[in-house]
Amino acid sequence: MFVTALLLLVALRAQGGNGEERAEAQRTGHVSVVVVGGTGDLAKKYLWQGFFQLYANQVSSGNTFSFYGGGLSPADKATPVLFEILKAVSCSKDVAPERCALLKEQFLRLARYRQLKTLEDYRDLAEHIERELQQEGMTEAGRLFYLSLPAFAYVDVADKINKSCRPTGGAWLRVVLEKPFGHDFRSAQVLATELGSSLKDEEMYRIDHYLGKQVVAKILPFRTENKKFLDPIWNKHHIERVEIVMKETLDVKGRISFYDRYGVIRDVLQNHLTEVMTLLTMRLPMNLSSSEEVLRKKLQIFSAMLPLRKNQAVVGQYQAYQTTVQQETNKTADHVSLTPTFAAVLAHIDEAQYEGVPMLLLSGKMLDERVGYARILFKNDIFCLQNPSGVHCKPKQIVFYFGHGSLRYPAILVSKNLFRPVSMDGDWKEVTEHTDVDILGLPISDYYVQTPTEQKEAYSELISHIFAGRKNSFISAENLLASWALWTPLLDSLAGSHPRIYPGGADNRDMLDIRVNGKDIAYNSEVVIISPDQMGGASANNFQVMQGKFRSADMVSAWAEELMERLAADIEEAAEAAVREGGVFHLAISGGSTPLALFHRLALHHFSFPWSYTHVWMVDERCVPLTELESNFHGLHDHLLQHVRIPYFNIHPMPVQLNQRLCVEEDGGAPLYEKEISKLVNGSSFHFVLLGVGYDSHTASLFPGSKADELGESLVALTESPVKPHQRMSLTFSAINRARTVALLVMGKGKHELITQLSRVKDNPDKWPVTGVKPADGRLVWYIDYDALLG
Ligand code: BG6
Repeated sequence: MFVTALLLLVALRAQGGNGEERAEAQRTGHVSVVVVGGTGDLAKKYLWQGFFQLYANQVSSGNTFSFYGGGLSPADKATPVLFEILKAVSCSKDVAPERCALLKEQFLRLARYRQLKTLEDYRDLAEHIERELQQEGMTEAGRLFYLSLPAFAYVDVADKINKSCRPTGGAWLRVVLEKPFGHDFRSAQVLATELGSSLKDEEMYRIDHYLGKQVVAKILPFRTENKKFLDPIWNKHHIERVEIVMKETLDVKGRISFYDRYGVIRDVLQNHLTEVMTLLTMRLPMNLSSSEEVLRKKLQIFSAMLPLRKNQAVVGQYQAYQTTVQQETNKTADHVSLTPTFAAVLAHIDEAQYEGVPMLLLSGKMLDERVGYARILFKNDIFCLQNPSGVHCKPKQIVFYFGHGSLRYPAILVSKNLFRPVSMDGDWKEVTEHTDVDILGLPISDYYVQTPTEQKEAYSELISHIFAGRKNSFISAENLLASWALWTPLLDSLAGSHPRIYPGGADNRDMLDIRVNGKDIAYNSEVVIISPDQMGGASANNFQVMQGKFRSADMVSAWAEELMERLAADIEEAAEAAVREGGVFHLAISGGSTPLALFHRLALHHFSFPWSYTHVWMVDERCVPLTELESNFHGLHDHLLQHVRIPYFNIHPMPVQLNQRLCVEEDGGAPLYEKEISKLVNGSSFHFVLLGVGYDSHTASLFPGSKADELGESLVALTESPVKPHQRMSLTFSAINRARTVALLVMGKGKHELITQLSRVKDNPDKWPVTGVKPADGRLVWYIDYDALLG
């Protein structure tokens, strides 16, 4: 059979293929394609068509192929199913019918089904491939495994491939994987590590099919080719906002077992829409085809993303979803799923170029239309007095239109009041005649429109890239983890949130309209249709802030987010009072991760905070250079100071590095800081000291057993920590207890045991340092979140 196949192939080569895809700098030879899950939905809808396209394009390139559809079912059952699927593949328009028939016949001859269940099955497959290579005297170019499987099977199948199907003699191995790649940062990390034990990173091709969409793939080339027009306007001074939108009309029937565990943020925003956002905002690589450079530039954007908080997202769920969940998962009628099927998220990039530019990412099922696009809306600073339909009065925008919607084809549209884009390579053309249609507020005639000359399926495009070894259309492990690092905290903070229920389709009317309010977003209308059974166990109590006593001092308690809100408001109030009274506010702040959420709150919500009259001091510091990640000042700088307008001379890092060495007693760093405090702070009494508490009850850098209560009157001391870095500089109890207000912030379930112990023990600063915090004339307030308080 193989010999006939080869003969036919030679005949086809003689006729010449359309030869669009050229393998890039890789040796020619025989390629074995194995689609594991080869009779499944995705394979049926897209993959086999993509591989047929690849075959048709490669026939004349010197490569030969065999195709295997693999699956758990025995061959006698699955073979007819596979061939039904294969028979349905089609040729592109430019292929003549006879040639198409020949290509299809050949493709079918080269394909077969194999049961792939056990390691033995994979071994048999490998032996079969090797035997045929030998019999036909062919050189092997490579083996491509496409895992069209549920993600839980990846590790096992990758292991089997590694153990039995690695090619030898310099041929390549490529293994293609589809999302979901984990459901949060941790699980993605675990999956990456587990896969990493079988496959090298360069062997893995993680697919995000959006990167195969023609318009998405064109974003970077478009930005590069139109650089001269875009450079002056692609920034915060000109961009009003960026919208990345994927609306769908379908529901998720038939996919509930997957979908209910993921929801729209994990299904679409974390991957497709985030990828588009990075392509729109990353610095332009010098070399668009260098996957390393593209990745580096993408990662820069990820690291510049401001953390996503709960107030930057709204979620919704279409009404019929609950019933589908109950039906498909055999749940009883009282089961309530909070999985969102709609979400809008407002992101911000903390880079001078995009500072303050809202990036709106939005997707949902059961909406009014199916459409996907990214729109860059520019500011229009022209006020039109008499002729608002004049071209300069209209919205200025660039729309990357992925497809569907009223336009119905993929396109890049530039409003005519911006610039005329340069014409793109031969695969794209300008559309000059169109049926009358409105695209995002403008008639199509108000745009320059460019579209691909031939529409191509994303999967077919990506399959050709896999074959060519072009890695920049795929998601690297670093890229994936960076994205999960961005999304996981938001997903955690939204867990338990009740989505707004929407009816679906046109009936949604304005229910899902979004209002951007500073750095937050909210639904525009207040109407929330929630039936009592959808309320689950939630009660208004969940949101209350509670006041009480802890260790005979005042205590404020609430869920983390509300607690932060309250603490930030209290600090602002203290700041305003101090400035009213004496024109200055002295704030001493602790390090560590607990106050980060507070810093974000202060930076993003408290625009009237009197920063220009505020002095910021450190409660303690680790003896490392201030530029190191471990430094408390570094954290404070990154998460707060660089986002607020505080004069540089009001910032007082601890002098842990003097004479090019760290925390050496003779260098006198501690007395130096003390002197600065005495000089600037009236009576060395800070207005507000914010402290945390460690698991061992240390506070500032005053640790158990360090005899911190014996430091006498000195305000600052060098201390020792039991954990690395051991050397510290810290305010002493003497300094802390002179303050007007001391806040002790304790958060997270992990601190529950500590709180329970502290509620029982007597003051003993040597054993329980935090019990040494007793402001002499000031006020002590504990801020404890419900997790720490109630466990
Ligand atoms: C998939 C999601 O990745 O993308 C689906 O899992 C979604 O939920 C689909 O429907 C949308 O892709 P496209 O190409 O139709 O925009």
